[in-house]
Amino acid sequence: MSRVLLGVTGGIAAYKACELVRGLRMRGHEVRVVATPNALRFVSSLTLQTLSGQAVRSELFSLNEESEISHIELADWAEVSVVAPASAGFLARIAHGMADDLLATICLAARAPLIVAPAMNVNMYRHPATQANLDLLGKRGVVIVGPDTGELACGWEGEGRLVEIEKVLGAIEQQLAPGTYRDEVVLVTAGPTVEAVDPVRVLTNRSSGKMGFALAEAAARRGAEVILVAGPVALATPYGVERIDVESAEQMREAALQALDRATIVIMAAAVADYRVATRASQKIKRHQREALTLELVRNPDILAELVEREGRRLVVGFAAETERMLENARDKLARKGCDLMIANDVSRSDAGFDVDRNEVWILGPGHEDVEPVPAASKREVAERILDRIRRVRDA
Ligand code: PMT
Repeated sequence: MSRVLLGVTGGIAAYKACELVRGLRMRGHEVRVVATPNALRFVSSLTLQTLSGQAVRSELFSLNEESEISHIELADWAEVSVVAPASAGFLARIAHGMADDLLATICLAARAPLIVAPAMNVNMYRHPATQANLDLLGKRGVVIVGPDTGELACGWEGEGRLVEIEKVLGAIEQQLAPGTYRDEVVLVTAGPTVEAVDPVRVLTNRSSGKMGFALAEAAARRGAEVILVAGPVALATPYGVERIDVESAEQMREAALQALDRATIVIMAAAVADYRVATRASQKIKRHQREALTLELVRNPDILAELVEREGRRLVVGFAAETERMLENARDKLARKGCDLMIANDVSRSDAGFDVDRNEVWILGPGHEDVEPVPAASKREVAERILDRIRRVRDA
């Protein structure tokens, strides 16, 4: 039985929170409801209390309510917090850290994952302020479920409907189930490396870091301690992740080796430059000095192969970025580098691989026939499937 804190904010969809409480109880979860005073204008405290089997809390400064269970105890109690429906006002308060009512205060104090299911008028939803707040929350690791598009209670048509309760239940259970990474320390590398040619020019590649960051975020959500060694990328650090920024392959190697002793799982999603210039020019190379320019490149260390060889029982996962004969080349890399799993992806596609938000991968295990396809999906979802597979290997 898991402990779910359900926040309900003011909006016509508040009545659907009753169905959510019932669904959670039927799945065997313990539910405590915190409803804002506005939510209680739409749905009665008695209904929520009867369905949850627990007193409903609403006021921050209520002596009666606090004496039963304090708001901080409630925040600590929750294994997952979900706010459904989440109004525009609530999203704004939580995005900006305003602890001015009981629900926002609990959400700020809670260390458990937070899921929000927005529901509001389409224009409120589309308003740049609401979009910016959702963006901010998403970057902090808050799981945003929905909204759906359709006819709204206010008479408008468009985005803003609370998603199906089944979807909210699915998101809650996803957060609860994967606590299985609690004993793991996951080292993830992400992004490109940048090799300086002279003080202004570099050799690099098209990696955005999205795949590696999604893996780091998902592992942290599942309870792992996560160390993320990142090349130069324009991404926010996922919630609960320790980040080490590097530039070159040599710096990435150094950082990865330093973190290695702590790691029980290593996932190398970074696109490490295979070569760097033999001698970096100390001054900008002048164009007028030459008609053609030849750079001598030397091989960078193979970080993945080196990590595999280091002592210690840890599971090592590599990525194979291929443009042809993907499975064949990836299988060859798995054997050469000696890692436990190899994640193959086709980086010649425009709808997967480098930079975009989606990916389609094949997880290769040690057996020759051991290939698990992960259909095209968001990098977040692909990361979840990769972590599922790693868990299965660890538990075998
Ligand atoms: O960052 P995104 O834009 O989200 O894109 C994701 C991705 C395409 C970068 C990612 O999914 C991916 O495929 N990462 C691996 C890219 C890569 O360098 O592949 P590779 O086939 O060249 O290398 C094989 C493995 O060896 C990789 O795990 C790589 O990290 C590692 N390697 C490579 C070279 C090197 N000198 N040292 C290494 O450790």
